[in-house]
Amino acid sequence: MITKKSVSRRRPIAVGNWKMHKTVAESAAAARRLSRLLSGIRRLEVVIAPSCTALQSVGATLKGTRLRLAAQNLHWENEGAFTGEVSPVQLKEVGCRYVLIGHSERRRLFGETDNVAGRKVSSALRQGLNVIFCIGETLEQRRADQTAAVVREQLEKGLADVTGGSSDRIAIAYEPVWAIGTGQTAAALQISGAHEMIRRQLTEIFGPDSSEAIRVLYGGSVTSDNIAELAGIKNLDGVLVGGASLQTDGFAAIVKILDKMKRQDEKEGSEKCIFC
Ligand code: PGA
Repeated sequence: MITKKSVSRRRPIAVGNWKMHKTVAESAAAARRLSRLLSGIRRLEVVIAPSCTALQSVGATLKGTRLRLAAQNLHWENEGAFTGEVSPVQLKEVGCRYVLIGHSERRRLFGETDNVAGRKVSSALRQGLNVIFCIGETLEQRRADQTAAVVREQLEKGLADVTGGSSDRIAIAYEPVWAIGTGQTAAALQISGAHEMIRRQLTEIFGPDSSEAIRVLYGGSVTSDNIAELAGIKNLDGVLVGGASLQTDGFAAIVKILDKMKRQDEKEGSEKCIFC
């Protein structure tokens, strides 16, 4: 039976990562349309992460709406001689509430290590930003049965300086590298198994109370066709959507399905709890 305890009180979240796509004008137009399409969404938190050049205009577009702005990366210092980098202070100034850290493309293509990701996480939290910390194994690591060890190391190093008090500002995005941009979504069983393991590891790192607040999302080829199946995974607190978030109406459909299913879960959970 579902009890009140087994129904998550964590607010579900959907994040659209636009990566290096869309001009400033296209980004602002998409943000305007999304905020219209999703004006009825109350329970789900919706976050969009445009390119750096579009942050300011999308931030202005989202002002006064329920949608939140995220950056895709940041530098850990607030200012300095770091050509090409953007600081947490600068991100906050244009309206960012969230930042993605440790995305596999940053790790794989730009040499971002767990330790670098860890410095970014603590800097972002210090500056009051919420963090979406991305982790996940490669196909070789999964085949070699190393998923648990890889994820554990990413969590331990990436969250090394995080104290229990700021854990409610962290979300973990479990994104198996082999599922990102490949059209090969992880199976529901693989996702729920990985989420269970991540939740266990978070409990060991932060203790049961602080870890309870941390949301664990799934990312990797999420689309409007597979969202209903993914949303049925009980320990999934949300999704990080890349390619499919570029289609505004498709992303809105993903958000609506997830919101509806999560509200349904909560309703069933509290109804059943009357008798438990
Ligand atoms: P995808 O990307 O949805 O295109 O697989 C996910 C991500 O990179 O976060």
